[in-house]
Amino acid sequence: MKLESQMIIIFGATGDLSRRKLIPSLYYLIGKQLLTDCTPVVCIGRKNLTQQEFIKHLSVEQFIRNQDPQVMQDLIGRITYLSFDMESGNSDEFIDGVNDVQKKYGCTQNKLIYFALPTSIFEQTVQLINKLDSENGWRRIVFEKPFGADLASARRLDANIRTFLGEDEIYRVDHYLGKELVQNILTLRFANEIFSGVWGAHAIDHVQITVSETLGVEKRAGYYDKNGAVRDMIQNHLLQLLSFVALEPPDDDVAESLRDQAEAVMRDLQPLEEADIVLGQYGSGVIDSEKVRAYRMEPGVAENSTTETYAAIRAHINNDRWRGVPFYLRTGKRLRQRHADIKIVFRQCVRGSGGNGGEPNLIIIRIQPDEGIALAVNVQKPGEEDKTVSVLMDFCHHCHFGPNTPEAYESILRNVMEGDHSLFPRQDWIESSWKYVDRLRAVASAPTAYPAGSTGPEEADALLEADGRRWLDEEPAAAVFSLSSLH
Ligand code: BG6
Repeated sequence: MKLESQMIIIFGATGDLSRRKLIPSLYYLIGKQLLTDCTPVVCIGRKNLTQQEFIKHLSVEQFIRNQDPQVMQDLIGRITYLSFDMESGNSDEFIDGVNDVQKKYGCTQNKLIYFALPTSIFEQTVQLINKLDSENGWRRIVFEKPFGADLASARRLDANIRTFLGEDEIYRVDHYLGKELVQNILTLRFANEIFSGVWGAHAIDHVQITVSETLGVEKRAGYYDKNGAVRDMIQNHLLQLLSFVALEPPDDDVAESLRDQAEAVMRDLQPLEEADIVLGQYGSGVIDSEKVRAYRMEPGVAENSTTETYAAIRAHINNDRWRGVPFYLRTGKRLRQRHADIKIVFRQCVRGSGGNGGEPNLIIIRIQPDEGIALAVNVQKPGEEDKTVSVLMDFCHHCHFGPNTPEAYESILRNVMEGDHSLFPRQDWIESSWKYVDRLRAVASAPTAYPAGSTGPEEADALLEADGRRWLDEEPAAAVFSLSSLH
């Protein structure tokens, strides 16, 4: 069934997010025949470009693989480029431009407005779009992260935009929640009875959440050097993953209840101490046989920058389900591998064959790449009845479902088009996460250096070793692997 007719307005349309993610997502939605003919796309950017120059600038051929010429033609036919500068632009001209598109398509006043913009101009842009006609339709405003830079600024921002917008009109994006395997955390937990009984401190020893990147800061030094890994990744993506693993089952009103439960987890987080945190900054090194420069040598980064490009924390959730179970979170740039996963490590079984209890069971949720879910269980070693061996039951998502699984931003756009808030963090979650992160930043020691291409600073290994544990970094693709020496 097609989605409701609506005008899509993208601010920041010449930027990377729009070219790499938003426009390709629209292409895929058109390809799946989900958009009505009354769904025009108005792209707003500061660059003074003609319609043709804008289409060329999108370089769709780079970002959309195996294009279908008909779908592409349909996409391009929907796009109108309007150049507008928030500082110096004339808002009447902007409104006339949007109204012209409205008249041409004439179907509805529904508007999905995407702010692919820096946080600093969110408020101004809200004031601008507030002048657009939408009496006879809904409007849904999508805010890219970061939503604020600390608790105080997130509150201020919210208060200012709430003068013009209702909470039901606001969609705060965390694109990790659009990822298929992140949504599957909830399915794994709540649609599989075998897991619900073991999901807590009585059976789980600890949880490891890793988002590791090989990329450096690319062309984003201006933004990144002011923010660092904690604000760029921990405050949003990693704490969202933690919330999804830890939350209590939502009730039937899934959207609001899910958001209530996610926020409850954030409120139960124990404030961090210095010893729970390791920050790092990458030096020069080698990744995939290529030499890469140190963070401080990246264009746009201050020579003596103390911004962290890596962060690891030991989080504790103070509630009945999770008391005593550490959640180890880590993320960094210029690391050895690009991968994101969650490892749920169970307690060692005391009644195993031969009395040794075997290896701890393990659930691995592979978010990217090679999306899937794996479960390590113990079986009897052939010919040696008193011995067990840990084997992996491995589910490969794309092998089973094919390559048509939506990309994160396609899911995000579709959810907004359907008016579904469940995968968008609510303001109370954002505030609780900033509170936690403000404290983290206040007590953390300065970053230590790690070579590009490594798994991060040695101090991050020591964080787990101090608890008698270790990061489970080995690639568990093989059918049999060992977790010995975990304890
Ligand atoms: C963004 C961060 O939110 O997420 C980037 O700002 C980071 O620094 C990116 O590279 C990672 O997203 P993904 O989907 O590539 O894992």
